[in-house]
Amino acid sequence: MFKKLLSLVLIGFSVAATLTCADNIDHRNKQTIVVAHRGASAYLPEHTLESKALAYGMRPDYIEQDLVLSKDDHLIVMHDIYLDSVTNVAEVFPERARTDGHFYTIDFTLAELKQLQVSEPFVDSEDGLQAKYPERFPIWKSSFRLSTFEEELELIQGLNRSLGYDIGIYPEIKKPYFHHWEGKDIASIALQTLKKYGYTNRNQKVFFQCFDAEELQRVKYELMPSMGMDLSLVQLIAATDWGEKLIEVNGNIEKYNYDWMLEQGGLRKIATYANGIGPWYPMLMEVEDGQPRANGVVRRAHRRQLEVHPYTFRADKGKVPEEFDSFEHFLHFAVYQLRIDGLFTDHPDKAVDYLSRGRRSH
Ligand code: G3P
Ligand code: CA
Repeated sequence: MFKKLLSLVLIGFSVAATLTCADNIDHRNKQTIVVAHRGASAYLPEHTLESKALAYGMRPDYIEQDLVLSKDDHLIVMHDIYLDSVTNVAEVFPERARTDGHFYTIDFTLAELKQLQVSEPFVDSEDGLQAKYPERFPIWKSSFRLSTFEEELELIQGLNRSLGYDIGIYPEIKKPYFHHWEGKDIASIALQTLKKYGYTNRNQKVFFQCFDAEELQRVKYELMPSMGMDLSLVQLIAATDWGEKLIEVNGNIEKYNYDWMLEQGGLRKIATYANGIGPWYPMLMEVEDGQPRANGVVRRAHRRQLEVHPYTFRADKGKVPEEFDSFEHFLHFAVYQLRIDGLFTDHPDKAVDYLSRGRRSH
C-alpha cells in the first residue's frame, strides 16, 4: 500500500513537471489557490487515499475532504451520506438498505465499511451500472477502499514532512442536519479531530467549509471558542432546488432556502461569521449574446473581505461551459475577470499548470 501511494505521488510530480517544464514556476499567480476537489478525482476514484496521493504530487495549495460519520462515529472521507454510487455495498450487505433504497454510511461500522470496494462513481441505468464520467478511470478496476479523516490527515501531514511542502486541507462536514437527526454531532467530532492533528488557528493551511449557515455559526460562536480554536470558515452556497439542506417546518420537511445569501445584505451577514464563500461558479457570472462577464458577486464579497472559492472546475469533455473554447479559457476568465481567490477543481494539475504560467491572452 505504501509503495503504491509513494508511486502515485511521484507520478503526480512528474505530471506537474511535464506540464510546467517550459515555464518559470516563480510566475505562478500566488493570489489564486488551487483546491484538489475530492483529490485528483479526474484521474482516480474520488476521495481514495490513492487519489489524494496523486493530487499531492500535483502540488495544489489544498486538498479537499468531504466528511460523513460511520455508525461508530468515525469520520469517513466521502461525498454522499449514501454508499450507493461509489461502493459495492449492495453486493456485500444486500439486506442493509433503508426503506428508501439507500445504503447509509451512518448505518455501518468502520470495520464494515473497510470491507467495501470503492469504484469510480457510477450511475444505475437501464443498461446496468454506467460510469458517471465515461472517460475517466474505469469503474470497478483495481482495488480501492474508503478511508477515515485521520488516515488522510496522516497521509498529507506525512507527505508534508517527507517532501517538505505545506499543502493544506479543506474539510467539509456533509449534511449536519442529517447527522443531528441521527443523534450525531459531526461538527464537534470534525473539530476534535482537527485539533488532535494540530489544526487550531487561522495561520494554518486549513479552511473549514459547510453548506449549512446555522451550523457554521454554531462552529464559529459555540464550538470553536469552547475548544480554543479559530479556523478560517467558508460558507458554501447551493441552489435552493438541490435540496442540500432540509429543514422541518410545521411538521413538514422542506428545502432550506439559500437565496438570501446572494441577495441584499446576505454577504454582509455571512462576513460576520465566515472568512470566505464557496459558490457554484455560475452564481458569479452572467452571459449576454454569448459573452460571459462578472455579475458583481465577487466584487461585493471582496468589499466584505470575503474570499471567493467557487466550485467545481472540470476539464472533461462537455464540462467546460459553452461560452469558453477551452478549459484554460475558462480558468482565465475566472481568475482575471471574475477575480476569484481560489477554485475547486477535479484537475489540479491543469489548474496548477495554468496558474504557474501566469497571465496569458485569450
Ligand atoms: O465543497 C466545495 C464543493 O466540493 C461543493 O460541492 O458537492 O462537490 O461537495 P460538492
Ligand atoms: Ca465538498
